[in-house]
Amino acid sequence: MKPLIVANWKMNPISRKQAEHLFESIRKEICGIQNIEVILCPPFIYLDFISKKTSKDIKLGGQNIFWDRQGPYTGEISPQMLKDIGCDYVILGHSERRKNFKETDEIINKKIKAVLKSRLKIILCVGEESRNSFNKDGRWTGEVDLVLREQVLRCLEDIDESQMANIIIAYEPVWAISTTENSCVAVPDDALSASLLIRKTMHQKYNEKIARSLRILYGGSVDSKNVIDFMKEDGIDGVLVGGAGINSSEFTRLVKAVSGQYLSAEQKTVISRF
Ligand code: 13P
Repeated sequence: MKPLIVANWKMNPISRKQAEHLFESIRKEICGIQNIEVILCPPFIYLDFISKKTSKDIKLGGQNIFWDRQGPYTGEISPQMLKDIGCDYVILGHSERRKNFKETDEIINKKIKAVLKSRLKIILCVGEESRNSFNKDGRWTGEVDLVLREQVLRCLEDIDESQMANIIIAYEPVWAISTTENSCVAVPDDALSASLLIRKTMHQKYNEKIARSLRILYGGSVDSKNVIDFMKEDGIDGVLVGGAGINSSEFTRLVKAVSGQYLSAEQKTVISRF
């Protein structure tokens, strides 16, 4: 499976002109990169024109959806609408939605079930709010395990094994997100411990095959300098970036760093001839 790089643009940039510029600069730079999967998740309002200009190297995703396909839900967007406009993915359960819009695991579970009927793939975000669950020696105390386990199990309630091929889990500790007040940078070990815990939970809920094949991303202050450290970890299949995704030169540096890392020896030799 190719490593995944997902850029969550959140509520950025402020104008269509800037969004066009951001998209075009990214597309120009990363066009032709095939050994990784790049997914851009712009605000809904920019999806239409971006989907008309995107190439097969860049996939699109939404940042949220409602749990019904159509009807009297003022201000909402359905999974079928996202699919229709050209999206392949949708982010669900981001901590900013959990916090600002009181999205609970039960609501996220309802959304997951709705998305699974639409052939979109889900990027399900989970992550603890505070790092206090580490004791003063920096060791994981177990409290985080409980929070993560519960989030995963509640969000995936009644989701059966066959549907798991359409779900990716992104571990995003809230304390490591660049815009969190007093945020602190996570170390690759934090991401690895969380990924092991998520895989263990999947093993208990489903089986070993699901635990091994589940794609797990890490998100939280990832940039072009630290991305390889996170991606070097065995259980981490990609990254979900915020700030680095809305800066075209930083994002293309990040994509190229990962792409270079994953080139086969044969590809590297071909490139070094130029
Ligand atoms: P940053 O990369 O800015 O920390 O944001 C992470 C995030 O929330 C992506 O969804």
